[in-house]
Amino acid sequence: MALLKPNFTPSFNITRISHIVLTSIDLDASQYFYETGLGLEVTFRDSNSLCLRAIEETSHHSLVFYKVQSNKTSTCRSIGYRVQTNDDLQKAYDYFSERGDNVKFVDRAFQGLTLQVTDGVSVPLEFCAEMEQSTCRMQNFHHHAGGKLAFFDHIQIATPDVAEAYQWYSDLGFRLSEYTAADGTDEMWGIWLKRKNNTQDVVFSNGAGPQLHHFAYHTPEIANVIHAADVMASLGLAGSMDRAPGRHGIGNAFFIYFRDPDGHRVEIFTSHYNFIDVDHAPKRWDLSDTTRSQLWGFPAPKKWFYEATTFEAVPVTPPTMAAAPVTLEDFLAKDSEE
Ligand SMILES: [Fe+2]
Repeated sequence: MALLKPNFTPSFNITRISHIVLTSIDLDASQYFYETGLGLEVTFRDSNSLCLRAIEETSHHSLVFYKVQSNKTSTCRSIGYRVQTNDDLQKAYDYFSERGDNVKFVDRAFQGLTLQVTDGVSVPLEFCAEMEQSTCRMQNFHHHAGGKLAFFDHIQIATPDVAEAYQWYSDLGFRLSEYTAADGTDEMWGIWLKRKNNTQDVVFSNGAGPQLHHFAYHTPEIANVIHAADVMASLGLAGSMDRAPGRHGIGNAFFIYFRDPDGHRVEIFTSHYNFIDVDHAPKRWDLSDTTRSQLWGFPAPKKWFYEATTFEAVPVTPPTMAAAPVTLEDFLAKDSEE
């Protein structure tokens, strides 16, 4: 599909991605991983739930876990976005109702009025304008630990229908900053969509889905990304590293990926860039250009491409586009042949 014209006057004002709600079979293990390991702050904990946030966040939570029984699969329950005001929530309710979507107001702990709906590719969403506020740890430097995570930045979702996701989110004012398309065509394989200042709030990539591929926290220094790996190793959690540090071509992120005790994938990264001006054109990448995912030429392992978190009670559909990624296993096999 051709590039869509940005919608600068959407029906309601989404300001940014805000939080993610996951499930865990062992809240103690989750807390150890995210608080002791990566350095997030615990803002609430009881026998059923765990709320965390990063250094610069004054809002109550950006990461929420609910406990599930050990015989259940850990899932993602919803993706949270902020809107500007409660008036925007009413406008959102009207917008989705008019479309015939199943939209309703729900109660969420520590959040103001919250609206629940499902997006065009079956991802469960919630929108709120307000959340309980308290002083963050930004200038409590003695509490900065682990990866020194500053703020929740983006998520990536695998979907068999990237074109539908592009249309649905463009209608709501999301802008395309970068994209991958099949060589010589406008067939979108991956789209980087943004509302806030930088390159992405949400990424959709072709794959079996909908599934949550990862969520990501920003840290201001490359040294922090490396230090996170050292801390995880010294805690005996080195095996949680899912993809070694490197730099993405797309978005310019210096990254590392971990899998938490439930298998949810979390990225710690730095060095995105601003994408604000109306005349800043989206950057195109050919699908065959492997530097989009690994600028240094060292591919991700197979599990990084194919393992993901399902959304609760949402069936997974196979991808429609056939495009096998180059994996670390392919890379090493080729190397041993030479
Ligand atoms: Fe990411």
